[in-house]
Amino acid sequence: MTDQNSRRDFLKTSSVAALGAGLLSTLPNMARAYADGDDAIKVGLVGCGGRGSGAAEQALSVKPKVKITAMGDAFRHRLDGTYNGLREKFRDQPERVDVSEDQKYVGLDAYQKVIDSGVDFVILATPPGFRPVHFEAAIKAGKHVFMEKPVAVDAEGVRKVLAAAEEAKKKNLKIGVGLQRHHQASYLQALEQLRNGAIGDIISMRVYWNGGGVWDPRKTREEAGSEMGYQVENWYYYTWLCGDHICEQHIHNLDVGNWWKDAYPVVCRGMGGREVRTDKKYGQIFDHFACQYEYEDGTTMISECRHIPNTWGGVFEVAQGTKGTLTTEGRMRIQQGGKTSWAFRGDNPNPYQVEHDNLHAAIREDKEFNEAYNGAMSTMTAILGRMATYSGKEITMKDALERGVTIYPYGQELTFDSTPPVVPDKDGWYPIPVPGQTNQLT
Ligand SMILES: NC(=O)c1ccc[n+]([C@@H]2O[C@H](COP(=O)([O-])OP(=O)(O)OC[C@H]3O[C@@H](n4cnc5c(N)ncnc54)[C@H](O)[C@@H]3O)[C@@H](O)[C@H]2O)c1
Repeated sequence: MTDQNSRRDFLKTSSVAALGAGLLSTLPNMARAYADGDDAIKVGLVGCGGRGSGAAEQALSVKPKVKITAMGDAFRHRLDGTYNGLREKFRDQPERVDVSEDQKYVGLDAYQKVIDSGVDFVILATPPGFRPVHFEAAIKAGKHVFMEKPVAVDAEGVRKVLAAAEEAKKKNLKIGVGLQRHHQASYLQALEQLRNGAIGDIISMRVYWNGGGVWDPRKTREEAGSEMGYQVENWYYYTWLCGDHICEQHIHNLDVGNWWKDAYPVVCRGMGGREVRTDKKYGQIFDHFACQYEYEDGTTMISECRHIPNTWGGVFEVAQGTKGTLTTEGRMRIQQGGKTSWAFRGDNPNPYQVEHDNLHAAIREDKEFNEAYNGAMSTMTAILGRMATYSGKEITMKDALERGVTIYPYGQELTFDSTPPVVPDKDGWYPIPVPGQTNQLT
């Protein structure tokens, strides 16, 4: 499954871009569009929640002119909250937040209206279930994209993103994916150490996202008005929208493992379940996963993610090599024979800002920038872990990618009156996977 060449190109692109150097090929036709610096890049935001408002702020903070001209969200109150927040943050530069009333779109079809509103660039920051459909539409319409991770919740979605990523390349569109560690100085310095052989060959890795969990369901069914509205409001707890927390959060750590290893796992075994978050209001997702991934050369990656309050927590990665150990826990450092042989030094600017600076620089200077392949494959790594855990079976990446069950209703135009792909039984319970009984391959 590993596309080593794409991966190397990707590594080269992201790390060199982060260091601010010129990179790869130039295609003069796109460069013209923004060359004089007067012509602002027009941004459309799809998904005006926590991350969408952060990503919009970061795009607007890029030095050359960028302005937001269209916004879309499933719900009006979220759009208004983000619009008002951006107007306030950019009160000294009101021209940056230039969204007239008729450029604000509400509903599950808002994405297409934002894409068609005359923007150059879209930020896709809805729950990840929608991402493949939104990304496909953006690429079809010829827009540059920044999309949040994960980029899908199932194998069919990953395949759609991979296909659209190829299309984006042909159209010379620039694609950023919100795996911001690739733009973080500490991770880039550590990677340089790794590539220079500071820990020798990697033989095993451990990656963690263990914590207390996220927000409780935000709306009742009565407040939401429909089953679809209820699930979209409380999207974290429905696998077709969220992908479960191994996909939604732990992807960051799995992606670091892939990045360090310069490969994607070929097989996975997993265990997990719902130990404390068992109420029916918590929909379908598990509260813990423990997975063992293997790469083609036999290297293992042990992964844990947990949403259980009052337990040991940590969000970090460790690589054990033949000559030493690299850890990102606390201060990023390499240990050899019990001694620290290297530790990160220097500025560590906000990677959420740097990823936008780099993407916008690539658009303006017409440099190659397409993080979609890696975004899709690291998403697939997380989906593979979820599938192995839900089924209790050993699953290969090849089978998962080719035959993994589809959980998002592709091909349907969703509205708040549509029936979601999962519905509660008469007692309010949603289907919850049972290892040994739940099948994950078609
Ligand atoms: N890179 C990171 O570190 C990071 C951090 C936080 C979140 N994220 C990612 O950002 C995404 C959004 O997370 P969030 O925390 O902002 O969630 P959120 O719930 O705060 O925001 C999601 C927004 O999307 C809207 N929405 C839902 N369905 C929609 C649709 N079909 N069309 C338009 N709008 C729709 C919701 O109403 C909401 O306003 C997730 O994929 C998450 O993983 C990434």
